[in-house]
Amino acid sequence: MRALAWHGKEDIRCDSVTDPEIEDGRDIIVKVTSCAICGSDLHLFHNLIPAMLPGDVMGHETMGEVVEIERSLNGKLRKGDRVVVPFTIVCGECDQCKRGYFSVCQRSNRKKHLAEKAFGHTTAGLFGYTHLTGGYPGGQAEYLRVPFADSTVQKVPDGISDEKLLFLSDILPTGWQTAVQADIQPTDTVAIWGCGPVGQMAIRSAVLLGAEQVIAIDHLPERLEMAEAGGAITINFDEENVVERLNELTEGEGPEKCIDCLGMESHVTPSMPDTVYDRAKQIFLAESDRPHVLREMIYVCRPGGLISVPGVYGGFADKVPMGAAMNKGLTFRMGQTHVQRWTADLLRRIEEDQIDPSFVITHEVPLDKGPEMYRTFRDKQDSCIKVVLKP
Ligand SMILES: NC(=O)c1ccc[n+]([C@@H]2O[C@H](COP(=O)([O-])OP(=O)(O)OC[C@H]3O[C@@H](n4cnc5c(N)ncnc54)[C@H](O)[C@@H]3O)[C@@H](O)[C@H]2O)c1
Ligand SMILES: [Zn+2]
Ligand SMILES: [Zn+2]
Repeated sequence: MRALAWHGKEDIRCDSVTDPEIEDGRDIIVKVTSCAICGSDLHLFHNLIPAMLPGDVMGHETMGEVVEIERSLNGKLRKGDRVVVPFTIVCGECDQCKRGYFSVCQRSNRKKHLAEKAFGHTTAGLFGYTHLTGGYPGGQAEYLRVPFADSTVQKVPDGISDEKLLFLSDILPTGWQTAVQADIQPTDTVAIWGCGPVGQMAIRSAVLLGAEQVIAIDHLPERLEMAEAGGAITINFDEENVVERLNELTEGEGPEKCIDCLGMESHVTPSMPDTVYDRAKQIFLAESDRPHVLREMIYVCRPGGLISVPGVYGGFADKVPMGAAMNKGLTFRMGQTHVQRWTADLLRRIEEDQIDPSFVITHEVPLDKGPEMYRTFRDKQDSCIKVVLKP
């Protein structure tokens, strides 16, 4: 089959690879009808997260049709079922799964010794996301093997387009979870850094959850426009001082809730000198992440406020002002999304036309255009916001 494989920094190729096969009684094989490129894939594209190997198949936002299934799964899933595949592989049975902490499932990471060494504990197996999370081949491919399929996938009905359903695999639950865990009150100002696909979903979730005011920060005009269309007041960090503007919009108090929808790769510019410092340290391998937004959020957040971080951090971040965070009494919530906790409810909201996440798609192309689309998406060329690939 054809699949997008990682071969090193900024080197993704559309390769011919071996078809996946059933390896366990809880496996299924999905024929992929749609998959997408995520901002998380860019961290791998830039080789900023360790433990990728040449030939690893990329992709963790996938949906399709069940084409192979073991008899033991009969009744739970059937051949021909249409399924969305969340990026988190979950056993459904361990203590963490039982508590709904799916992204830290204790059993689905088949290389848990690596995660234990890096993080102190294992986290869940993820599709197409390094050997720290199991080294599972991803879904930017014609076929995908899904382990623990009965607890991992979300069945979806016919009659709704792939474009409306695909993002149940990741960015929709991610934007939703980050807003839910911000515990939004009707009097809250919610400030959201980064208006990529995740930021867009977070903006709409914060509006839906009843925030008084949602403020979105980025510098790309087309993304700011999309944020505004979703109900946000926008700040362009190239043109305005973010902290000053946020204080102005909150009568000097600062936002109650701050959400980081970009993570470890802050834009680097001399007008934000700490980003230049981080970039220099990265070059000398003295720091892995560029946490400009963490610093900014801690500084501007109202005392007693909450910081929610869906943006991915990979390793070590310097000069994070813990003194300010501690003395202001801030609460932090973060993590890879517990996707399966939200999919059924969000599917219902899509069916009821409360949410239609397809608005974020700007490019839809065949799988073999994937390698060039990684660049288009990374460089934000052609007003690219979200790429869907059709194998
Ligand atoms: N927690 C999870 O489970 C989960 C799931 C999906 C994605 N993610 C992460 O969410 C993040 C965003 O993903 P995406 O697909 O939207 O990515 P993206 O790269 O398309 O969007 C990031 C946006 O941040 C903006 N930005 C850069 N520096 C900024 C700054 N200093 N201030 C404000 N905005 C800035 C960029 O212009 C860009 O529009 C990534 O880190 C990704 O890994 C996490
Ligand atoms: Zn993702
Ligand atoms: Zn589990």
